[in-house]
Amino acid sequence: MGLALIVHGGAGAMARERYDAAREGCREAAVAGWRVLRAGGSALDAVEKAISVLENNPGFNAGTGGVLTTDGRAQLDAGIMDGETLDAGAIAGVERIKNPIQVARRVLASPHVLLIGAGAESFATDSGIALCDPSELVTPAQYARWQRGYGLGDDVNVGDRVDVGAGLGAIDMEAEPGTRNGAYADDEPVHADAHKHGTVGAVAVDARGVVAAGASTGGIAAKHPGRVGDTPIVGAGFYAENGLGGVSSTGHGEDFIRLLLARRALDYIAAGSSAQAAATKAMQLLSRRVGGSGGLILLDGQGRVGYARNSPTMAHAFIVEGMDVPFAGV
Ligand code: GLY
Repeated sequence: MGLALIVHGGAGAMARERYDAAREGCREAAVAGWRVLRAGGSALDAVEKAISVLENNPGFNAGTGGVLTTDGRAQLDAGIMDGETLDAGAIAGVERIKNPIQVARRVLASPHVLLIGAGAESFATDSGIALCDPSELVTPAQYARWQRGYGLGDDVNVGDRVDVGAGLGAIDMEAEPGTRNGAYADDEPVHADAHKHGTVGAVAVDARGVVAAGASTGGIAAKHPGRVGDTPIVGAGFYAENGLGGVSSTGHGEDFIRLLLARRALDYIAAGSSAQAAATKAMQLLSRRVGGSGGLILLDGQGRVGYARNSPTMAHAFIVEGMDVPFAGV
């Protein structure tokens, strides 16, 4: 069975000057995951590693550098799945975990599938994962963006709890990239989430033919506190099943949940589509059925690559047997 690994750094509208950094961030994550596979590691280990690298890169909307809620907090979600056992683990709405994918991996090994908020954080400490201060997850760029978007002054410190509910309308979700509201500026991350998207993810096939998939996100910009998107939802943000393949989604999560799009993409494989055709058909369904936007990455059960998006960009990188270095694109 050929090894394969693909990662994404989120779909959305990215400033052209950010393309190189986004490609490089994905390439770095793909290399890290690939090393795990080449050393005989499992697909789960490779996915966890690749996503951890993306979470640690402040330029992506996951882990450190995620977008903030309307009240200025980083609330993170992540999920991971083993295609051999169909075990899955996910966490949602956590504020004190630097690498949510690593806690999701531990949930996968527990009797549970999805833990939220304080319960997920106490599970993390019980599992030996230290909590961080919430402010450690907030980058200056995301904080400044939140301040601009909500029209706050400079007298707010990172980590402050600020009630700006009345200012929610200040962000124009339909605004064009490059404009002040709902858009990116020069100091913003590689994936500034100008069109509500975010998320990082990975899919891998290991030497035993086991498929694993996962995703991690800060969610969507200007989300209500407590809002959970597709990323920690099995079948929507990620799915893996040996023989069929694995999928990781990125985009406006509500629409991916409505369609259970990650699983639907694998249904196309089950019906005879190639990896690339399945990815394309899933995105066409997203557009046609619910008018959603975003993208997804996919490996079929043999490690063949597919990816598609209906948003302007989706940072991604992949490497399969026979390649010396990952291919990276946006
Ligand atoms: N796809 C990330 C989210 O909607 O939260």
